[in-house]
Amino acid sequence: MKIAISSDHGGNNLRREIMNLLTELNIEFTDFGPQTNDSVDYPDYAKPVAERVASGEFDRGILICGTGIGISIAANKFKGIRCALVHDVFSAKATRCHNDSNILAMGERVIGPGLAQEIVKTWLNTDFEGGRHEKRIQKIAELEN
Ligand code: RB5
Repeated sequence: MKIAISSDHGGNNLRREIMNLLTELNIEFTDFGPQTNDSVDYPDYAKPVAERVASGEFDRGILICGTGIGISIAANKFKGIRCALVHDVFSAKATRCHNDSNILAMGERVIGPGLAQEIVKTWLNTDFEGGRHEKRIQKIAELEN
């Protein structure tokens, strides 16, 4: 599985924690920054990840900002993206099973690194259930047209 990851300045610390986790888990990832702690605009960092997940170049994406809200709103503007803002393990599992989310968003100012790591592990290891959820995903896609 290939993961694309980015954040804004408000998510830099948590992004580094998550990249360390991905390295430990031997999961391939590409970091789309930012590389400094300067203030940046989260849509500029949602874009490279969302575009590459939507195109299929990457299987999944992880986005982090202060709250996770702005960067998830921006990512969901891209066709084919189902970005879920998650701050608990139950939702991490549910959004994979039911929504087939392809990007996970989190807020560094909302949760600590320990919980964020558990969320990432759960989200990466849970499969889409399909079945009755398939047609709901299809209906989301139809809303994009
Ligand atoms: C940046 O200060 C902050 O607004 C951003 O990280 C995020 O929380 C926006 O939704």
